[in-house]
Amino acid sequence: MKKAKIRNALRNLYAPSMALLPILVYPDPRLHTVAKPVATVDSRIAQLVDDMLETMYEAKGIGLAATQVDVHQRVIVIDTSEERNTPLVLINPALVWTSPETHLNEEGCLSVPGIYDGVVRFNEIHVQALDQKGQSQTVQAQELLAVCIQHEMDHLLGKVFVEYLSPLKRNRIKTKMIKAQREDAR
Ligand code: NI
Repeated sequence: MKKAKIRNALRNLYAPSMALLPILVYPDPRLHTVAKPVATVDSRIAQLVDDMLETMYEAKGIGLAATQVDVHQRVIVIDTSEERNTPLVLINPALVWTSPETHLNEEGCLSVPGIYDGVVRFNEIHVQALDQKGQSQTVQAQELLAVCIQHEMDHLLGKVFVEYLSPLKRNRIKTKMIKAQREDAR
């Protein structure tokens, strides 16, 4: 066994590597599950966060909610930075303040690939949440980060952004998604 191999074996033993998680695709009914609060930020949650971050970066997303990987606990990961090196972890997020101003923003979602449409969101929000170490933090967010947090918090309530659209649009998207998944399965 070569040194490098031993090092890798040890790394796998003591720090299990991250894993890519499958992302649920709309209209999968599991996307409408309401997530439960995390009771304790333990090693299992830390592993989930690592896996979600890897999954989000791999999918080139700017945010991912645990709901989307079929884990129904209040965990969100986000990175809206240009450099993709500023992960934000929000566990048990709660909105503590919202700006009176709202705006229409074009959104997309890793669970609804290829679809972009307008949703009205608060311009600015303050969110209280735990971080990956279980420490309480308050995040003051505006612009893209604020939109992203609102979008991901909706996921934890079982809400996908297409539910803000008209029934006609939503049904069209549903049909398109089902057709695309059928073609992928072939
Ligand atoms: Ni989404």
